[in-house]
Amino acid sequence: AFKTLDDLDDGQRVLVRLDLNSPVEDGQVQDNRRFDRHAETVRELADRDFAVVLMAHQGRPGRDTFVSLEQHADILADHVGRPVQFVPDTFGDRAISAINDLDGGEVLLLENTRMCDEELPEEEPTVKAETEFVRALAPEFDAYVNDAYSAAHRSHASLVGFPLALPAYAGRVMETEYEANTAIAEREFDGNVTMVVGGTKATDVIDVMTALEDKVNDFLLGGIAGELFLRAADVPVGRDIEGMDLFDEQWEENEETIEHILDEYQTQIHLALDLAFEDEDGERDEIEVEDIAEKDRAFLDVGSNTVSEYAAFVENSEAVFVKGALGLFEDERFADGTVGVLEAIAETDCFSVVGGGDTSRAIEMYGLSEDDFDHVSIAGGAYIRALTGERLVGVEALQSGN
Ligand code: 3PG
Repeated sequence: AFKTLDDLDDGQRVLVRLDLNSPVEDGQVQDNRRFDRHAETVRELADRDFAVVLMAHQGRPGRDTFVSLEQHADILADHVGRPVQFVPDTFGDRAISAINDLDGGEVLLLENTRMCDEELPEEEPTVKAETEFVRALAPEFDAYVNDAYSAAHRSHASLVGFPLALPAYAGRVMETEYEANTAIAEREFDGNVTMVVGGTKATDVIDVMTALEDKVNDFLLGGIAGELFLRAADVPVGRDIEGMDLFDEQWEENEETIEHILDEYQTQIHLALDLAFEDEDGERDEIEVEDIAEKDRAFLDVGSNTVSEYAAFVENSEAVFVKGALGLFEDERFADGTVGVLEAIAETDCFSVVGGGDTSRAIEMYGLSEDDFDHVSIAGGAYIRALTGERLVGVEALQSGN
């Protein structure tokens, strides 16, 4: 168990870790469910007269998504309904003086934690607690709150260092996500368990399939991950979309594992029957997988036959878990796969859980109701690890911290 906001006395100075890691398109940070979920924690703290200083990360050094948190402050402010100040500094003099100027009820967001060199290397909490980053910030506060359940699988300074330096508490998102995901992982089902696996990260898919092969009857694949498996089945797919080289590197790193999994779990794995692409007029078109002769186009969604087949699996399931999107749903032309399968799940009364960094966004974008699912998680990697029963270092740090 960990302490929660119910255990904190009002009006103190708190340092709060959120997970606002978001899609970035053409330099624009995209609003998503993480903002409105975390806004609840921030609003509660501000209403209770805390001086609220927020930390979060965005992207990774070297990637296009590695940007400042300046835009995040504005998006968050809209959701919280209060101003959110921003300082372009993680723990230097500018950050410290902005923190000192903050009054009760005010909210300040610090710069991207990953702009600090000490944040990212995966090290033990005791090492992280000794970083300059933690040592400079901790004395400014009475308490540390971790609300970033979705980043709790990372042993980073902002997640595991501070609980050793300050009294540590779980925020509202941490609390609800932890409880829901842990209960789900422990649940047993008599009937068919189906898992819809998509998204862009091959390693997440590999982890989930190897860890859950006994628990899940059928894996329905899509997204970039699904295409990597199609490639392993000798279908010439995997052309990168401009500005996103998602295939070749992942293929080189994971080729043998993917081929092995496909071979080993053949009867459990279901691959797309057809795929969608953008034709010369910019319209959606579809092609049967068996007719794909050359790696000459980028596929952006699964096709309609695949959706029908996957919907039939869903109808025969007692439980369905979703991890990742089946296509580029942000573009309406390529949302049919992701939304079609989510609709099929919403219409049945199976036990259903939807997770994956962006996937929860599709529910909102396409007018589905969260109430039609048993749990919608804003976590990706952490959700997967929870399902597979793996420990989450960020949660452990909270449980064993001050
Ligand atoms: C996520 O977006 O799933 C978390 O914020 C973790 O991000 P990371 O995979 O870049 O560590």
